[in-house]
Amino acid sequence: MRILITAGGTREYIDPVRFISNASTGKMGYALAQKASARGHVVTLVTGPTAIKPPSRVHLIHVVTSADMFKAVKDNFDACDCLIMAAAVSDYTPLRTSETKIKKSAAPLTIELKPTTDILKWAGRNKNGQILVGFALEDESLREHAEQKLRDKNLDLIVANAPGAVGADVSTVHIKPADGPWTTLAHTAKTKIAGKLLAQIEALARSRPA
Ligand code: CTP
Repeated sequence: MRILITAGGTREYIDPVRFISNASTGKMGYALAQKASARGHVVTLVTGPTAIKPPSRVHLIHVVTSADMFKAVKDNFDACDCLIMAAAVSDYTPLRTSETKIKKSAAPLTIELKPTTDILKWAGRNKNGQILVGFALEDESLREHAEQKLRDKNLDLIVANAPGAVGADVSTVHIKPADGPWTTLAHTAKTKIAGKLLAQIEALARSRPA
């Protein structure tokens, strides 16, 4: 399969030197890219800034902002059989980006934010046979909220986890295909989760008419 994977967090710039981001390290997305390539898939990895050494034999696209990530996904979507959105895409971006470094003053500073495009939702509306895999990061009612995302974003498979997974090497995840039951992988290395997830994706692909 040709698998498009996103990884890491995005940066949304306030001024030339400051940005809003999140704690994502890219570990899950990079583990998926490495395992997918090892299983013989052709992998394109769209990555936000991370400190991880990229796997070899993977087509890398470096992005910084959520807008860059959206463009990279749009440009590569038609040519993929499966999109896995493991990236922690910023949900908001500053309404205005200052062209010069913002000077400090004694007064409180308010930064107005506007919503970014939901890339996965866009993919769900525009899919043409691609298998869509999303992640759901939830504090509470994990499975219920994740199932809502599965439906709202028109996904084929969802991986639900808790915020403790961000940046960790080991995580507990719950996986559900659109038409199948939940399975749980408790306290499992992200490299192993990646293998199990790809096996489920491959099974989904095999179950589809050619
Ligand atoms: N996602 C995306 N584009 C965004 C935000 C999220 O493609 N602008 C994707 C993520 O990569 C992930 C999935 O949507 O695969 C769910 O992300 P999550 O942060 O759990 O949920 P949100 O949809 O952002 O909703 P909320 O933050 O309100 O839970």
